[in-house]
Amino acid sequence: MNRKYRKTVIAGNWKMNKTPTQTKEFMTQLKAILPKGRWCDIALCVPAVCIPAAVRAVRETRIGIGAENCNPNPSGAYTGEIATDMLVDAGCKYVIIGHSERRAMGETDADVNAKVLAALEAGLTPIMCCGESLEQREADITNEWIAMQIKLGLQGVPEEKIRKVVIAYEPIWAIGTGKTATPEQAQEVCESIRAVVRKLYSSKNARAISILYGGSMNEKNAFELLAQPDIDGGLIGGASLVPEKFVQIIEAANQPTA
Ligand code: 13P
Repeated sequence: MNRKYRKTVIAGNWKMNKTPTQTKEFMTQLKAILPKGRWCDIALCVPAVCIPAAVRAVRETRIGIGAENCNPNPSGAYTGEIATDMLVDAGCKYVIIGHSERRAMGETDADVNAKVLAALEAGLTPIMCCGESLEQREADITNEWIAMQIKLGLQGVPEEKIRKVVIAYEPIWAIGTGKTATPEQAQEVCESIRAVVRKLYSSKNARAISILYGGSMNEKNAFELLAQPDIDGGLIGGASLVPEKFVQIIEAANQPTA
């Protein structure tokens, strides 16, 4: 983290977990134990049907609610899809884009790019995900692969909007496996992502953009991961479903930074 130059963001990704009723219960528990300080931005990205309950529950708190996906088209015949303006109207501030679980369902870099542009246009903060498979890591092409995902995902994002984008580095082999990247491994890739942004935009923009790590981040390993200079927060799956664990990760963001 480096709070001087950029925001720290602790974001939960609930994936396909919790009902609206459970959302309400979770938020009540979370609010009761939420630290009072303002060390980081807090986001919870929840299933679409849980958004209204989540938005209602976090009124007058500093938690921002997000969606887990969006459709890049403004409206029309896209059965089952949700447009960015709908998310904004429902009270969302964030949207996760290009999660590896969605890429595995067929989402391409071009789709990711279209969604990032649509999210920015609507005023949402896109949390754009990237990450390599175990095969790619073993073939030693991680940085090239990630650079490609970042370049394709950010195509056409104008300089004045780049700082609004949050990037999440999530090695696929670390998601839901209990196998976390070591702080050094995660730092190395996050640093290389910042270098890509520097090349595409400028040093100033690269310094200002928040890059999160995701993949089995939990209350035990968060402190060490967040201590890395280029890891500006976390995108947390499993541990974001339990208020006490999520709060401990938020607390880990309260550490001195460079
Ligand atoms: P886990 O924290 O459950 O490994 O999930 C990470 C993730 O995919 C967040 O988007």
